Amino acid sequence: MDKILVKGGRRLEGEVAVGGSKNAALPILISSLLTAEPCRYQGIPDLVDIHTALKLLSGLGVRVEKERSPFRGVGELTLQADRVSKMEASYDLVKTMRASFLVMGPLLSRFGAARVSTPGGCAIGARPVNLHLKGLAEMGAGIDLVHGYAEARTRKLHGAKIYLDVPSVGATENLMMAASLADGTTAIENAAKEPEIEELALVLNKMGARIEGAGSDIVKIEGIDELHGVSHRIIPDRIEAGTFMVAAALTRGDIVVRGARPDHLDAFLLKLREAGVGLTVAGDEIRVKGDGKAKSVDITTLPYPGFPTDLQAQMMVLMSVSDGVSMITETIFENRFMHAQELSRMGADIRLEGNRAIIKGVESLSGAPVMATDLRASVSLVLAGLVATGRTEISRIYHLDRGYEHIEKKLSNMGADIQRIKG
Ligand code: EPZ
Repeated sequence: MDKILVKGGRRLEGEVAVGGSKNAALPILISSLLTAEPCRYQGIPDLVDIHTALKLLSGLGVRVEKERSPFRGVGELTLQADRVSKMEASYDLVKTMRASFLVMGPLLSRFGAARVSTPGGCAIGARPVNLHLKGLAEMGAGIDLVHGYAEARTRKLHGAKIYLDVPSVGATENLMMAASLADGTTAIENAAKEPEIEELALVLNKMGARIEGAGSDIVKIEGIDELHGVSHRIIPDRIEAGTFMVAAALTRGDIVVRGARPDHLDAFLLKLREAGVGLTVAGDEIRVKGDGKAKSVDITTLPYPGFPTDLQAQMMVLMSVSDGVSMITETIFENRFMHAQELSRMGADIRLEGNRAIIKGVESLSGAPVMATDLRASVSLVLAGLVATGRTEISRIYHLDRGYEHIEKKLSNMGADIQRIKG
């Protein structure tokens, strides 16, 4: 298995282009199931999770054509679900990528049947799908949980008023897609408000759907009979952008993050500013200057527009070498502090108390062999390696490749001493 080797101490300088958003691309690729017409997508990132999603879709009978991009990403993709032959997403695919569960809504809505493995838990938490299933049942699906699979059938889904106990991103996406072809109007209350939700609604409306209120607490979908094809460029990945910004702050570097959407990162940018990081925002470019030690700040992760849980691990690294004591409270997932143990092995002073982490800034971290446990934890170890004294060797970086496109190249282009060791 590959490893990443980082030698700390280099300032990052120069610029980096943000890739397409993984968490926008996954539901959008899956939404191609809702029409028999070709759907063209540009700016799709070259990530393991994207390739898993394409394997899942082609396994259902969706035709996938790639036009290789001479630049980054997988280039232009055309998907066409005019010969869908299977309505099943197998356990081995769903367990490697839980977003596979998003095929449930489109399959049920367009074909009236779906057999999808329930994702089960993952490293960061139990991550149930009860809200997805509850909403689909309220829209008229008969669902049995048999041998770890959700087996669902319906003559035709109908509109419903659905309340989400938790503003779940995935449940909002699954139900929005299901409601697009249902009979009547659906309202999703306490809906997730992430930019990826707005982006999916934008694509569905370009396909002819009638969705209002995406990005607010209440999303209204008026079902129609058929959707048509679409051509769409994916928004940039706000979490990748934020990750590089923390890297610049940590190494007291000076970089420009290009092709970002600053408006998708308000809470995060405010926290960086509070921590004393120099930020200059100009259109889709964000200049980040790390001026000395970061100030310690308290962070609580919240559903959007609150501080994103997917940038929590990265900020923990910055706080571990800040000038005081900070507290990070994780309210979204029940086990998203596994990076803390690995950072402690690198000399960080972190005390965990339930969903709270108390971090006391130390003078410096020291390089060590560490192990990645989940996607964002793995990138936090790369960040720590950038500022640790000596060498840091990160194993199990398959987690990293799920959500970051050639990160070692992007970082070394800005001066980091980082390499991938083929294993
Ligand atoms: C999406 O996951 C993202 N993944 C996650 O990013 C992100 O951390 C998460 O939203 C929160 O922002 C994708 O978009 C592919 P949720 P999702 O449903 O949809 C509970 C990354 O690093 N819940 O909003 O699975 C759940 O247990 C990944 O890129 C239920 O209780 O997240 C969690 O506590 C990690 N029942 C909370 O809601 C349900 O039916 C938020 O989960 C569904 C969710």
